[in-house]
Amino acid sequence: MKPNKSVILAIESSCDETAAAVVVDGKKILSNVINSQVRLHAKYGGVVPELASRRHIETISYVVTEALEVSNMTLDDITTVAVTKGPGLIGSLLVGISFAKSVAYSKNIPLIGVNHLKGHIYAAQLENDVAYPYISLLVSGGHTELYIVKNHNDFTLLGRTRDDAAGEAFDKVSKLVGLGYPGGVVIDKMSKSGDETFHKFPRAMLNKGSFDFSFSGLKTSFRNYVIDKPDDFLESRMNDIVASFQEAIVDVLVFKSFRALKKYGIKNLVISGGVAANSRLREKALAEGKKHGVEVTIPSKILCTDNAAMIAAAAYHDDAQESVAGLTLNAVSRYYIY
Ligand code: KG4
Ligand code: ZN
Repeated sequence: MKPNKSVILAIESSCDETAAAVVVDGKKILSNVINSQVRLHAKYGGVVPELASRRHIETISYVVTEALEVSNMTLDDITTVAVTKGPGLIGSLLVGISFAKSVAYSKNIPLIGVNHLKGHIYAAQLENDVAYPYISLLVSGGHTELYIVKNHNDFTLLGRTRDDAAGEAFDKVSKLVGLGYPGGVVIDKMSKSGDETFHKFPRAMLNKGSFDFSFSGLKTSFRNYVIDKPDDFLESRMNDIVASFQEAIVDVLVFKSFRALKKYGIKNLVISGGVAANSRLREKALAEGKKHGVEVTIPSKILCTDNAAMIAAAAYHDDAQESVAGLTLNAVSRYYIY
C-alpha cells in the first residue's frame, strides 16, 4: 500500500513499554507494536529506570522493524516521524528520541516531539470522531487530571491529583499486600469476583467545588485496614477488599468528571490513560453517561495503556508547524499541556 497523505511512524519509550506504530492520516492504524517490560520490573514491584532504558536500547530497532513489516511499509513510505518527548524517564525517553532523530535525519523527513499526555487524550480520536468541547479525564500511572478541551490543542486544566496518581495508588496498594505489578491490572481482575460493598473506604473529595484529586489518604486507609487483620482473613477476603478499594477510586473519578460536565454544560466525556483500561471505571462511566445523556468515549484497552499509535494521533492533530522539531529535540521529564 502506498501512502496518500500522512504516514506517521511513531515511537514511544517514556516508561516501561517500547512501542512503535504506523498510522495513516491520523486514524488508520496499520501497526501498533508494544514490547512490554512488565516481567523485567515485576520482581521489584515497580519500574527501575536504569533497567528500563537499557531494555529500550536492546529492543527499539526490533520494535520499529516489526511495526514497519506489519504495516507493509518501508522507511521510504514514511512522511513524518513522531516521538514522545516527555513527560517520562529521561533515560528511556532519550532512547526513543535518538532513534527517531536518526530516522528523520537519514530520510530527511519532519520530526515531531509529542507530549505523552496529549497522546493519551488523542488516543480517543483514533477510533472515534470526538466532538468538541469535551471534558477529558486523564488517568495513568503518573497523572490524574481533568481538562476542558474546547478545540484541538485548547486544554484548560480543571484539577489534578495533589499527591498520588490513581494508577500509582493501585500499584502501591497491590505491592503492599503482595499482589504483583502492575497493580491496576491485578486488582481489576480480582475485583471481578469481589464484593465492592464489603468495606467502605474513604472518598477524598477535598472541598466541594474542587476538581482536584487525592489518593494518598485512601492508600493509608487501605494500609490501616489490612495491617492488623489475620492472614486467613486477608487470604479469604482479598478480592472483596481490593474491590472495595477500586470502588473508592472509581467513584471519585466518575463523580468529579460528571460534576465538571454539569458545571460547564458539556455533553462529551473522554477517559484515557492506563487506568481507563479498568473494567469497573469503564462500566460505571458508561452507565452514568447513559443516565445523563453524555457521550462517553473510552479508547480500546490496548490504546489506553502506553502505545505508539496514540503518539501518532497526537502528532497528526497537533499544530504541525509548531511542533516540528529539529535535531536538537530533547527529552523533558516534567512536561505540561496547559
Ligand atoms: O498510561 P500508562 O500505561 O502509563 C503511564 O503513562 O503511567 O498507565 C499505567 C498505569 C499503571 O499504574 C497501571 O496499574 C494502570 O495504569 N492500569 C490499570 C489497569 N491497567 C493499567 N489500572 C486499573 N485497572 C486496569 N485495568
Ligand atoms: Zn502513559
